[in-house]
Amino acid sequence: MQIIKHIIPLRDSVEALRNGAAGRSAETVALIPTMGALHEGHLTLVREARKRVDHVVVSIFVNPTQFGPNEDLDAYPRQLEQDSATLEREGVAILWAPDVTEVYPEGFATNISVSGVSENYCGAARPGHFDGVATVVCKLFNQVRPDYAFFGEKDWQQLAVIRRMARDLDLTLPHADHIHGVPTVREEDGLALSSRNRYLSPENRQRAIALPRAIRRTADRIERGEDVSASLSELKRALLEAGFSSIDYASLADATTLEPLDTRPDRPARLLVAARIGTTRLIDNMPVAGSHDKPAP
Ligand code: PAJ
Repeated sequence: MQIIKHIIPLRDSVEALRNGAAGRSAETVALIPTMGALHEGHLTLVREARKRVDHVVVSIFVNPTQFGPNEDLDAYPRQLEQDSATLEREGVAILWAPDVTEVYPEGFATNISVSGVSENYCGAARPGHFDGVATVVCKLFNQVRPDYAFFGEKDWQQLAVIRRMARDLDLTLPHADHIHGVPTVREEDGLALSSRNRYLSPENRQRAIALPRAIRRTADRIERGEDVSASLSELKRALLEAGFSSIDYASLADATTLEPLDTRPDRPARLLVAARIGTTRLIDNMPVAGSHDKPAP
C-alpha cells in the first residue's frame, strides 16, 4: 500500500493503477473518503469496494470545514499509523492522507452548497456542515478521479447530498451505481458503529441501544399504517425516557430528496433521527417501505 500526502504523486499513482500492473488498461478505481479512526463500518466499505473494482483508494482527512465552532474538531480521534496498518491488511492500494494545507491552499475561497437535500435535519442542526462535506468530497473526487465511490448509509443525508452533487457536477458517470451506498454496520445489540461511540460512558453506551430499537419500532408502526406524527412523538418520548438528554430531530423523509413526509409515503422513505446522550450526539436511520412498495419476498 502506498501512503501519499501530495497531489502530484497521487495523480501519478492512480494513473499507474488504472493502466494495470500487467499493462491491461482501464482498470477500475474506487474512492472511499473517511476521517480515519477506522472501525468495522469503514472496513465494510473497503471490502464491498474490493469486490467490485480492481483498486481501492481510501482517503483519511479530518476535514475542518465540516465541524462547527463548538464541535469536536480538536478532539476528533487521529491514529494514522494504526489506520494505515489496518488498510494495508485489507488490501487497499493507496492511502491518500493530505495535510490541511494541501487540501485548503492559502486564500481558498470556494464553497459548494447543495440546496434542498442539505437543508433539514443535520443541515439545520449543524449550519455549514454539509457545505464542508460537499466541498471536501468534490475536491477528493477531483484529486483521485475515481470510477466509483463508496459511502455508508449510516450517514443517509450525507449520502443523499453527495449523490445530488455528483449528478449535478458530473463527478461520476450518471448511469449505474457509481456512488455506492453500503448498509449500516451495527454492534450485536443494534447500535450503529461510529467513531463517536468511544465517547460514551458504559452507562450511556447501554442506554444508547434505545436509539436503533425506537427507530425500528417506529418504522414498523408507520409501515403498518399508524399515524406518522403520533409515531414520531412516541419515538421521542421513548428516547427521553431511556436517558437521552435531547433530540435534534426525528423525521420521516423521502429517501432521495429528503423532503419531510407527514403521512405514510407511497414511495421509499427513511426515518432519520439525531439525539444527544450525555455530551455525545448520535445519528441513525432506517428504511420505511412505501405503501406501493412490494413486500420483500
Ligand atoms: P467518516 O465519519 O469517517 O465516515 C466515512 C464513511 O464511513 C462514510 O461514508 C460513513 O457513512 C461510513 N460509515 C461510518 N460508520 C458506518 C457504519 N456503522 N456502517 C456503514 N458505514 C459507515 O463521513 C465522513 O467520515 C466524512 O463526512 C467524509 C465523507 C469523509 C467527508 O469528510
